[in-house]
Amino acid sequence: MIVLGIETSCDETGLGLYDAAAGELIGEALHSQVDLHRVFGGVVPELAARDHVRRLPGLTRVLLEEAGVTLDDLGGIAYTRGPGLLPALRVGAMFARTLAAVNDLPALGVHHLEGHLLSPMLQPQRRIEFPLLVLLVSGGHTQLIRAQSPGRYTLLGESRDDAVGEAFDKTAQLLDLPYPGGPELARLAEDGDPGRFALPKPMPQGLEFSFSGLKTSVRTLLQRLGEGALERQTRADIAASFERTVVDLLVHKCRSALVHTGDERLLISGGVSANKTLRADLEKLPVDVILAEPRHCTDNGAMIALAGALRLSAGECEDRTSPPPVVPRWPLEELDGIG
Ligand code: KG4
Ligand code: ZN
Repeated sequence: MIVLGIETSCDETGLGLYDAAAGELIGEALHSQVDLHRVFGGVVPELAARDHVRRLPGLTRVLLEEAGVTLDDLGGIAYTRGPGLLPALRVGAMFARTLAAVNDLPALGVHHLEGHLLSPMLQPQRRIEFPLLVLLVSGGHTQLIRAQSPGRYTLLGESRDDAVGEAFDKTAQLLDLPYPGGPELARLAEDGDPGRFALPKPMPQGLEFSFSGLKTSVRTLLQRLGEGALERQTRADIAASFERTVVDLLVHKCRSALVHTGDERLLISGGVSANKTLRADLEKLPVDVILAEPRHCTDNGAMIALAGALRLSAGECEDRTSPPPVVPRWPLEELDGIG
């Protein structure tokens, strides 16, 4: 079964084609709206939705043509049901369900975070063994999850305030870096000295995280430095100190969670898992560390095609006559096991 996956939860129009029988990705396409939102310093949901409407038809046509696949070859269409920005989610859902209805195909709304969680499987020959511990780090979520089996997830701990990607983006803004801040801050940090400024490490109890205080410490530091903070080297040193502090925190919590669950496998996914410093430090942990390729860490349609393919092949599908059930919030724990 070949499944077309459609991702429109935020500012990327992502498409993927996943062949469930062969267990491989056979095509993908991505349009990033970064240029559209940059002047606003963040994503404007209505603009994101309108741009998804503009991009989806042409992107789908090109993807199918390039993969040599026709709509008749498809076994189903999957789209991101949530969590995400409601106007943007609605566009993907309407497009996917209309395309499915016209071509008499099953459609299924899938969980964006399950897409992220399964994304390491997009690498050829990369199977994932369960159970395992998952660190999910994106723009909206920072969660430690125990995955018993595909589709069965238990939340062990999460951020009390900002998500880690959000902390990267907000701190980048303080450093006058352009949107999207996370990757820009990481690039600047490469030229910085992480030891120059000691930032406090917010360490809530157990497996919880807190990042909003860290952003405030950077703001206070910038105020204290005054004019000195304008120097590029100083800003690079602040970026490196921030990144080092965040990475140390994430690694520390992963260690604690591994002790808690006794797991021997750790999977890290979501946009922030593209961060090179984080990847390098997590790789040093004495467990099997599972990562997606950097291009599949951030939002993409391939992961939605994959998650959809697994669920559609197991017989899941939606009632075509029900309204598209998009949801801005959706706890991962509410999912059913696959198969
Ligand atoms: O998973 P994702 O693409 O979208 C959400 O589902 O939220 O994650 C986006 C987040 C943004 O906050 C972005 O700044 C962050 O991931 N990000 C990074 C890097 N690449 C993306 N943060 C730090 N270092 C990176 N290299
Ligand atoms: Zn995401």
